[in-house]
Amino acid sequence: MEKKVAKAKSCLKPAPDLLISCRDKEGNNNALAVEYACNCSFDPPMVMVGIVPSRYSYHMVKETGKFVVNLVPENLREKYAYLGTHSGKDENKLEKLEMKVADGTKVDAPLLLDCPVNIECTVVDSVKTGSHEMFIGKIEEVHANEDIVDGEGNIDYSKIDLLKFR
Ligand SMILES: Cc1cc2nc3c(=O)[nH]c(=O)nc-3n(C[C@H](O)[C@H](O)[C@H](O)COP(=O)(O)O)c2cc1C
Repeated sequence: MEKKVAKAKSCLKPAPDLLISCRDKEGNNNALAVEYACNCSFDPPMVMVGIVPSRYSYHMVKETGKFVVNLVPENLREKYAYLGTHSGKDENKLEKLEMKVADGTKVDAPLLLDCPVNIECTVVDSVKTGSHEMFIGKIEEVHANEDIVDGEGNIDYSKIDLLKFR
């Protein structure tokens, strides 16, 4: 028997557990946990991430039009929880957590080196859907640890112990 579901909120599961890293115009780095995200174009390759306007990261992405999507391994669970519950408006979260960063090679935003895959993106459009603004990012570059890339240059996702946060 079917039972009526009262709330349709966030009903697509599983949701990806991603870290979006960004940088403001003064060069300050930040990152937040994001699960509103998906692939949205095969050719050209694009992804879409949803950020609530009240997040500190929002103004960074809005101003610069750049962000990096980082795939998160299970061993970053505690840091992921911190980045998803504390705000960059109060502290430099990445420094506090001693997370390693490097400059993006195509976009002015940080790569999170503790993550096995970093996807550099430029915003080409955005849609305010309601609670979130969905940023469509054209993929400019993908970085991946050498032990997860096969001979043809494809990422072997089975070799990443991806975080399933909840
Ligand atoms: C599992 C998880 C998923 C989240 N997904 C999103 C999301 O898709 N979009 C969003 O704006 N915030 C999301 N958040 C909340 C932000 O990560 C959180 O508010 C964070 O503290 C914002 O950081 P900032 O203020 O430094 O940008 C999520 C948090 C968690 C724990």
